[in-house]
Amino acid sequence: MSANPLAAAEPWDLVADGYAEFAPAVMQPFSARALEFAGLTPGSRVVDVAAGTGMLSLLAAPRVASVAAIDFSAPMIARLNAAADAAGVTNIEATVGDGQALPFPDDGFDAGFSMFGLMFFPERAKGFAELFRVLRPGATAVVSSWAPVLESPLMRMMFGAFHAADPSIQEPQPNYLSLENPEVFETEMRGAGFEAVSIQRHSTSLRFAGADEMWETMVRSSAPLVLMRRSVGETVWAERVEAMRAYLTEHYRPGHPLSTTAFLGIGHKPEA
Ligand SMILES: C[S@@+](CC[C@H](N)C(=O)[O-])C[C@H]1O[C@@H](n2cnc3c(N)ncnc32)[C@H](O)[C@@H]1O
Repeated sequence: MSANPLAAAEPWDLVADGYAEFAPAVMQPFSARALEFAGLTPGSRVVDVAAGTGMLSLLAAPRVASVAAIDFSAPMIARLNAAADAAGVTNIEATVGDGQALPFPDDGFDAGFSMFGLMFFPERAKGFAELFRVLRPGATAVVSSWAPVLESPLMRMMFGAFHAADPSIQEPQPNYLSLENPEVFETEMRGAGFEAVSIQRHSTSLRFAGADEMWETMVRSSAPLVLMRRSVGETVWAERVEAMRAYLTEHYRPGHPLSTTAFLGIGHKPEA
């Protein structure tokens, strides 16, 4: 078992509705960028591991033959299916399952992705190995992970609010053993067998009409906040909400862009 509570499905189950509604503004630019690296064609078969509500799957589907989306959170997959139905998309097959043990045969996909998902796996090496296994020789994989919080004003603002609510929560320091470290990222991808690996930095900026809008976006789509609410109970949570909103009101200038940065790891399965 991993110590990271986000390695379990439950917090993601609880946040799925808000994630579908509020996360695209932050997350979708990274999926759009990831798709640019994969050389997709109308015949491509794509796999989206830890697909969530389908950020990447829904962008990819109109350009390719098929998308296999998988996530261990059933509510996330339910939201993905609802969004696909609403958009009239019929070529996504979504499955509830673990990204560390993919229920797909070897060599079956032309491109594979895991956007901000594999980074949470307790056994990342299995996540990379499984992605490698299900790709055909010559296929491309793109995996994303957040850069250190220090490099992301949007994340720093969020952690500032968390700290205001609970002074025991500190801004996370860079973890050089994780995918926050591009060297570790590259080594782990190579270790799974990928070649011509490169780690690219990508940033996106968000503007909010004001602190209230920023708060709504945070609270509805953030799994760590869902966990905080559950662990402290409703009375303390109400006090914390007040403290977090007050922090954002004081520190966020309406309309000001806040950037956030991720690393995209791109690798290729060697030709047979
Ligand atoms: C931050 S969300 C990212 C979702 C989506 N890929 C995106 O870019 O918006 C992380 C997702 O990883 C999923 N996840 C985490 N660990 C997983 C695992 N071991 N197997 C499958 N899905 C997992 C969660 O359920 C959640 O939907």
